[in-house]
Amino acid sequence: MKYDFDRVIDRRGTCSAKWDGLLEAYGDEDVLPMPVADMDFRCPPAVIEALKKRAEHGIFGYANKPPSYFQAIVDWMLRRHGWQMEKDWLAHSPGVVPGLNLVVLALSHPGDKILVQSPVYYPFFNVIRNNGRQIVDSPLKVDDGRYAMDLEDLEGKFDPRVKMLILCSPNNPTGTVWATEDLIGVSEFCLRHHVTVVSDEIHSDLVYKGAKHTPTASLSPEFAQNTITFIAPSKTFNLPGLSTSVAIIPNPRLRDLYSNMLQNVGSGANVFGVVGLEAAYRYGEDWLEELLEYLGGNVDFLVSFVQERIPKVKVRRPQATYLMWLDCRGIGVDPASVQEFMVKRAKVGLNDGAAFGPGGVGFLRMNIACPRRVLEEGLRRIEEAVNSL
Ligand SMILES: Cc1ncc(COP(=O)(O)O)c(C=O)c1O
Repeated sequence: MKYDFDRVIDRRGTCSAKWDGLLEAYGDEDVLPMPVADMDFRCPPAVIEALKKRAEHGIFGYANKPPSYFQAIVDWMLRRHGWQMEKDWLAHSPGVVPGLNLVVLALSHPGDKILVQSPVYYPFFNVIRNNGRQIVDSPLKVDDGRYAMDLEDLEGKFDPRVKMLILCSPNNPTGTVWATEDLIGVSEFCLRHHVTVVSDEIHSDLVYKGAKHTPTASLSPEFAQNTITFIAPSKTFNLPGLSTSVAIIPNPRLRDLYSNMLQNVGSGANVFGVVGLEAAYRYGEDWLEELLEYLGGNVDFLVSFVQERIPKVKVRRPQATYLMWLDCRGIGVDPASVQEFMVKRAKVGLNDGAAFGPGGVGFLRMNIACPRRVLEEGLRRIEEAVNSL
């Protein structure tokens, strides 16, 4: 391996949301934090070099995006996902969640309905609810831990008040990569009912061997005209603190609505985000290949550990993401308290599955983007706490 993902790096005292907020989050500095979706790895050296060079300049005025920035995004999407896009389709987003808020504000009115498929990344609910729109949920079907879309249920949920569907592709928290037929099904329903598809593809670069992500909008020119896609280098290269992501909007009308809303908010680009994104997409690919190998090893390690040593917890290999979806309904703790149990008894911080929708009660989401030694420590703590019940 060219890159050292085994190295344990102390992140305390670096303004880290994950490592510097333990007392506020858990009331205990000794809790091992494995919730917030960033990685405990250094990003690609080429990105660090580019950021250092830019920092050395010393003037941090308002940012402009050079043509090479847009070209790096277009090239990345073609190389990694086979989607040929135009530079004109690209709009800035100061983060995917801010981008989702802008889309909701630009394309719907208070009281309108927005579809989601739970369990799903919980800020989707906040984006809808906090902007005064109504959540319509079409829960995923689950069979022996495998999640699938319920297209029959979904079709029954459309009515004239539904304006948008927010899709999580691949799905966080279950790590599901959607089959092309599902993406076509969803997109066709939405076209038929004049509902815009907002496809959050932030995890699309973090797909394991054997699965293949397809950008929803790449499936047909008609779908492209009806879809707003969000991508970002943030999960892929561990750059979320640079607050830079991309909205891909082939439809000029939707693009104008979005861009006007962005302008109203007055959100410009972050100069380090511009430099970091371009360096990552241009020079970060071999790093990403090694990262995926390493994360795949962490998945293997966790699955064997849990099956052999904590069999009351059920887990399935994710097809994508560094987030594991642990079914803790059988450990003998009230499903509503499993997160608290892990904090208090195991001293491990995990996300409460209930936040991701009603089907998540009794589940925990665990971030395994850390050196294997740290993962092992987290699993040992969970083993001891669960097996002592
Ligand atoms: C599906 C999904 N969308 C968006 C985000 C957050 O994106 P950002 O930090 O760019 O707002 C996350 C972070 O975990 C995520 O999992």
